Amino acid sequence: MTPVSEIIRRRYSCRSYADRPVEDTVLQTLRTAVSAPQEGPFANRPRFVLLAMEALSRAEWKKLGTYGVIHNARLFLAGMIGPAPLAMVDYGYCKESLIVTATGLGLNTCWLGGTFAISAFGRAAGLDRSELLPTISPVGYAAPRPSLTDRVMRGFAGSDRRLPWEKIFFAGRPGEPLSQEAAGPFAEALENVRLAPSASNKQPWRIVYDASGRAFRFYLARSLGYRHLRDVSLQEIDMGIALCHFDLTVREMGLAGNWRHDDAATAIKSWEYVASWQAE
Ligand SMILES: Cc1cc2nc3c(=O)[nH]c(=O)nc-3n(C[C@H](O)[C@H](O)[C@H](O)COP(=O)(O)O)c2cc1C
Repeated sequence: MTPVSEIIRRRYSCRSYADRPVEDTVLQTLRTAVSAPQEGPFANRPRFVLLAMEALSRAEWKKLGTYGVIHNARLFLAGMIGPAPLAMVDYGYCKESLIVTATGLGLNTCWLGGTFAISAFGRAAGLDRSELLPTISPVGYAAPRPSLTDRVMRGFAGSDRRLPWEKIFFAGRPGEPLSQEAAGPFAEALENVRLAPSASNKQPWRIVYDASGRAFRFYLARSLGYRHLRDVSLQEIDMGIALCHFDLTVREMGLAGNWRHDDAATAIKSWEYVASWQAE
């Protein structure tokens, strides 16, 4: 088994795909993961489907709206969920675990929250009236060379720039940077959060470590203009992705703990409190 930190380092947003189908055995493993029941840390249950786009008519294929951004993808992972408290966080958590699985299988992916036509994908995915389809992701093998749009999109979103530790991880209170040493065994889990994908690479996660309470408090620093797109908060999805990276890492390291709401954490007003990971 490839260590999760290695998979997380390998993942990047791939926007140009090779003209070759996913190998049968790989597809089988991915299908099994995608169709398994999913539940996030806050008990919301998104559902996922793999859409093979050859099955669509040419007219429908043209309406997908990924045009110009995603090249050559034939397989898409679509995830649906009903609106509920913390639904977007659970959604991000569960979908990222599938993205990590796909990456571990040697596949490439890209989260897409803005640049796709929801109606065409919704139809193909059997979207129910009560559900949202917040994002889709192409899945496949990377093209030998990225397209020009691929490079432009990366530059536009500043995809290769991650915020340094001192801007996102804090000891006890905002403004007090948390060093890797002070994070101890949790440093790797935090680093894996730092490497997570986020909408427009805004990296809205802020984490405060309460060393005496042995808890990591996760906050959302919302960017203006990102609040809601079609009832969907992409930045709440970003938070779910961060929780997923943290959780996968601590689990692999055998560090026990769980997610909970911590009333005391809401005292910090700099950002929006989401949830805490509490060591056991
Ligand atoms: C929730 C979410 C939505 C995203 N939506 C889009 C999108 O609509 N189009 C796109 O090209 N990239 C999209 N991205 C990819 C981000 O731009 C990318 O993750 C970020 O720039 C960091 O680059 P990296 O994933 O290569 O590390 C999205 C990412 C996330 C997490």
